[in-house]
Amino acid sequence: MADEPLVLGIETSCDETGVGIVRGTTLLADAIASSVDEHARFGGVVPEVASRAHLEAMVPTIERALKEAGVSARDLDGIAVTAGPGLAGALLVGVSAAKAYAYALGKPLYGVNHLASHICVDQLEHGALPEPTMALLVSGGHSSLLLSSDITSDVRPMGATIDDAAGEAFDKIARVLNLGFPGGPVIDRYAKEGDPNAISFPRGLTGPRDPAYDFSFSGLKTAVARWIEAKRAAGEEVPVRDVSASFQEAVVDVLTRKAVRACKDEGVDHLMIGGGVAANSRLRSLAQERCEAAGIRLRVPRPKLCTDNGAMVAALGAEMVARGRPASSWDLSADSSLPVTDPHVPGHDHDHVHEVGDPAHHHDHVHEVGEGNLYS
Ligand code: KG4
Ligand code: ZN
Repeated sequence: MADEPLVLGIETSCDETGVGIVRGTTLLADAIASSVDEHARFGGVVPEVASRAHLEAMVPTIERALKEAGVSARDLDGIAVTAGPGLAGALLVGVSAAKAYAYALGKPLYGVNHLASHICVDQLEHGALPEPTMALLVSGGHSSLLLSSDITSDVRPMGATIDDAAGEAFDKIARVLNLGFPGGPVIDRYAKEGDPNAISFPRGLTGPRDPAYDFSFSGLKTAVARWIEAKRAAGEEVPVRDVSASFQEAVVDVLTRKAVRACKDEGVDHLMIGGGVAANSRLRSLAQERCEAAGIRLRVPRPKLCTDNGAMVAALGAEMVARGRPASSWDLSADSSLPVTDPHVPGHDHDHVHEVGDPAHHHDHVHEVGEGNLYS
């Protein structure tokens, strides 16, 4: 509808420069430039390389999105940008660009949370989010169960990983198997031809006394790496397809089991799955199976909207405008560790403004090159 807010969203928290344009919950454009190929040979995202690539891609990607949507920048009702969490330098490029465009065009600026955006994007696929919604957020930097009664103002953490994120585990196992980076998509592909029951890998934090909604993937990662090393040491061939399928099954079994349990315990009849790992085909099918059995409606966006993109930022920005949330102030800063409980960074609230690069707020969003070893 023409009276719904027209919002442009900018995403630069990691290695994708994403610019999306939405009108309310309708997707008009989703332009992406990725620097993933530049990081592949390092086996992880190199922050400075990502920042530089964002700088080069920013303006052309914004222009491509406007053209794709067939709208003029003058018609926008607001500009939204990922303020955090993510890589500080990479976020800064997006925040600076958003400020420049918003200021020059005289539009309100909305600094929003990357994680809440991963949830809100589903409105572009399946319409307004039910309230409350249980969300399983699984990406390269985060694995959480979140309960939200309003995605613009209330996101409550139910549980989170106590060590590695799910995507990080995929990336690390792919590295041990020499499958390249990022690991998720390629393990997903190999797993389709493997036997998920070939090897029995551990399911972290699933004992009777373990926390019900927290995750742990570090023990699984070590178990898989040791299993592979033992095969190699014995001079045997590593069955890449079976290892991929069995590892993937261990991850998605725990994720779906805990998500369904959280829905049941909280009496929530909808589960949303978002973040890059939500693109995983086995996670999608097992979640569907288990949700159906439990009478829960599952909502997962199409894979392209699960991995980082600008449309998700625009979707959350449009929701902010629609609900009359305050715009951010011009001193909005990038916050590499913006808490998941802050869906956006409202203006004139200086208590929440963190210094960019403040070591106290530094946080490992993705595996950075040279950051410890595989067993850490
Ligand atoms: O949300 P995202 O694009 O970036 C972050 O915010 O981290 O997630 C990236 C992560 C990577 O770890 C990647 O390996 C994983 O999502 N991923 C997948 C799949 N596609 C991407 N993991 C499993 N299966 C996939 N098909
Ligand atoms: Zn993400």
